[in-house]
Amino acid sequence: MIKKIATQNLKVGMYIHDLDAAWMKHPFFSNRFALDKQATVDEVIAAGIKHVYIDTERGQDFDVAVPIDVVQQEISDTEQLLADELPGLDKQASFESELVQAKLVVYEANKAMRLVMRNARLGHKIESTAVDEVVDSISASVLRNKDALLTLARIKTVDQYTYMHSIGVCVLMTVFAQTMGYDDETIRQIATGALMHDLGKTRVSPELLSKPGPLTTDEFAEMKQHVELGAEQLAGFGWLSDVSMSVVMQHHERVDGSGYPFGLRGDGLSEVGRMSAIADVYDALISNRCYKQAWEPTYALGKLLEWSPDHFGEELAHQFVRCVGIYPVGTLVRLSSEMIAVVMEQDEAHLLRPRVRLVFNERNGRYPLLEDMDLAAADSIVIVESVSAQKVGIDPLAFI
Ligand SMILES: [Fe+2]
Repeated sequence: MIKKIATQNLKVGMYIHDLDAAWMKHPFFSNRFALDKQATVDEVIAAGIKHVYIDTERGQDFDVAVPIDVVQQEISDTEQLLADELPGLDKQASFESELVQAKLVVYEANKAMRLVMRNARLGHKIESTAVDEVVDSISASVLRNKDALLTLARIKTVDQYTYMHSIGVCVLMTVFAQTMGYDDETIRQIATGALMHDLGKTRVSPELLSKPGPLTTDEFAEMKQHVELGAEQLAGFGWLSDVSMSVVMQHHERVDGSGYPFGLRGDGLSEVGRMSAIADVYDALISNRCYKQAWEPTYALGKLLEWSPDHFGEELAHQFVRCVGIYPVGTLVRLSSEMIAVVMEQDEAHLLRPRVRLVFNERNGRYPLLEDMDLAAADSIVIVESVSAQKVGIDPLAFI
């Protein structure tokens, strides 16, 4: 098989099928040759070539070319880094049993938020009782097993986005706040703010909310108003706490001052404000939108970490990754055994080695009988990468 890979992933033992560069731009006699020694690999990298094509029948594959001990060292380094930060949440129920309860929680939350948004659009006053039950049932489900709701809250269609995004951010913030050790009352206030954080979008024109292309400067200015419009309406209800209001007011602020509406910087943002910015961005990235397809959770987490120094603070972003997991439940992954699997359960002590369900054999192109595997107990099999459900045509949530 011919594969295109980034030059920095080249290893001794691979066979170059094509250098993907004009012959006068590199020092090699041919575009096609074996990488038989490290010096040749270094020469390709030094030539400034960004990508090459490798022939996996004549040389090593990209997936198996990384020596297993190198992968395992990286895994233990990352786990050590994350394990030192926070204790995990205890699980009171299995993922499978909580999934049944969590479906009901999402169904009820969905109904409640549709009504809240409709009333807000009509300018009606919303009572706290309209959301109290949603906040309580989300919190109870997360305490029993956070992964069930985290998985279900990812499922949203484009037309349901506004209220399902509110529920998604509420679930993420509840998990985040519980993991960070906030007291019950503060968690409740954070979750309430998260449910209402985008209420101001009911004042933005529906055409703008569903515009598939980039916004013009004027359109973006109108979109940005949703924060203050929402806060103004919520203040009029008279029952949201300061903590809840900080979620609403600060979820688009960034620590480098590039956010809105106030361009707050550094310590000007509260911790809860920065947490809400992380949860809001992450939920948007992993959702299908009118202008983009959902990103894979692991890729989205990588991007959050990359942006964190300027946007949220690195430490807090690492803590967020710690609480949703590097490979969140429901993620599709490729194993070193050439199997495609769905992540089924996090192991708090081994975030890179969750329990997985084997769903597709890439070697023979077949779907095997479903089998679960605990990667923490499987010494020689590791996750090579997360894979796009769209690219491989497998819906991971259908196997859960
Ligand atoms: Fe927003």
